[in-house]
Amino acid sequence: MKAIAVRPGTPDSVHLAELPMPQLEDIPGGRGVLVRVLKVGVDATDREINEAQYGNAPEGYDFLVIGHECFGIVEAVGPEVRRVQPGDYVTCTVRRPGGSVYDSIGRSDITSEEVYYERGINLRHGFLTEYFVDDEEFIVRMPQGLKKLHVLAEPMSCAAKAVEQAYLAQKRLQVWNPQRAWVMGAGQIGLLSTLVLRLRGLEVLTMARGEAPNLKSEIAAGMGATYISTRERTLHDVAAEYGRPDLIIEATGNSQVAFDAMQVLGHNGCMVWTSITGGNRKVEVPGDAINLQWVLGNKMLIGSVNANFRHFESGISDLALGEMTWPGVLEKILTTPVNGLDSYAEMMRLLVEDKEALKVFVNVAEG
Ligand code: BGC
Ligand code: ZN
Repeated sequence: MKAIAVRPGTPDSVHLAELPMPQLEDIPGGRGVLVRVLKVGVDATDREINEAQYGNAPEGYDFLVIGHECFGIVEAVGPEVRRVQPGDYVTCTVRRPGGSVYDSIGRSDITSEEVYYERGINLRHGFLTEYFVDDEEFIVRMPQGLKKLHVLAEPMSCAAKAVEQAYLAQKRLQVWNPQRAWVMGAGQIGLLSTLVLRLRGLEVLTMARGEAPNLKSEIAAGMGATYISTRERTLHDVAAEYGRPDLIIEATGNSQVAFDAMQVLGHNGCMVWTSITGGNRKVEVPGDAINLQWVLGNKMLIGSVNANFRHFESGISDLALGEMTWPGVLEKILTTPVNGLDSYAEMMRLLVEDKEALKVFVNVAEG
């Protein structure tokens, strides 16, 4: 069976690898689910793994199969599987448990261990292959009616977690009734966070560099958010015009923006950082001013990575509600398909070079 893989540590090593066909019996206790892969999305993480910035092969392999955003159809299930059956459309969580107390309660997304296991990213093969098996506990059903949003389920789970974390953390205030949210970045996480916040009734400013109109501004506006190009405006100007936000979701991939946005958050506000900044850039910040404002304003900063089963479920519910509320808008994120696992070089080229692509994904099989 074919798979798209990299040799971790070797830059630009993306290639076609060969894996044995997985078996239901690979998963103990009759809990295996065999999935035929239909589509897999790729993102900056796959690009950075191919640039050898991070990522490790599973034990016993010198390659790592990449791809962590999957959509497929259940082909067969073990005798103890209850939640899914052959013919169901599914996606799959990414992180697998390590040894911490959080891992043991189904919260490997907040593992306290340094080493984390993620399919397609670190120490576990990913989904850019023809079939995979996994434990029922990690398989998430997608409604038939959401088939056209396929690979958005995984990035959506990360957006759902980011917003959920803010609401949970803000219970510290006893009363929190956020009105204004800013979303920094209009890539997939930015736009999907915009969706979650709009569904919660917030006024949302979604910000990115590009001048409107463009596809990102069209999608943000399609969900009733206001798109702001930051090319010619500082965040202080935006705050002066629209007011300081109660909540900021940072999803630009740019640590300068992460620190800049700290300077405009409103009193009692909460900011969530979601960018995986693989580089080692240094940024200059007005440290005293930020420190002072954050203390005097009782502000809160959260880092949020990955997502667990529950976030996939709430994310999928929000995709469904979003589709009912603003029909046809979300699928505009799915800009850039490539056909077949053999197109791995084209897939990586688009991921690196196509600045207009909001989402590159591979059509692995029909179904
Ligand atoms: C994935 C997450 C993962 C994170 C860190 C992201 O691209 O979507 O599931 O936890 O990278 O590896
Ligand atoms: Zn990702």
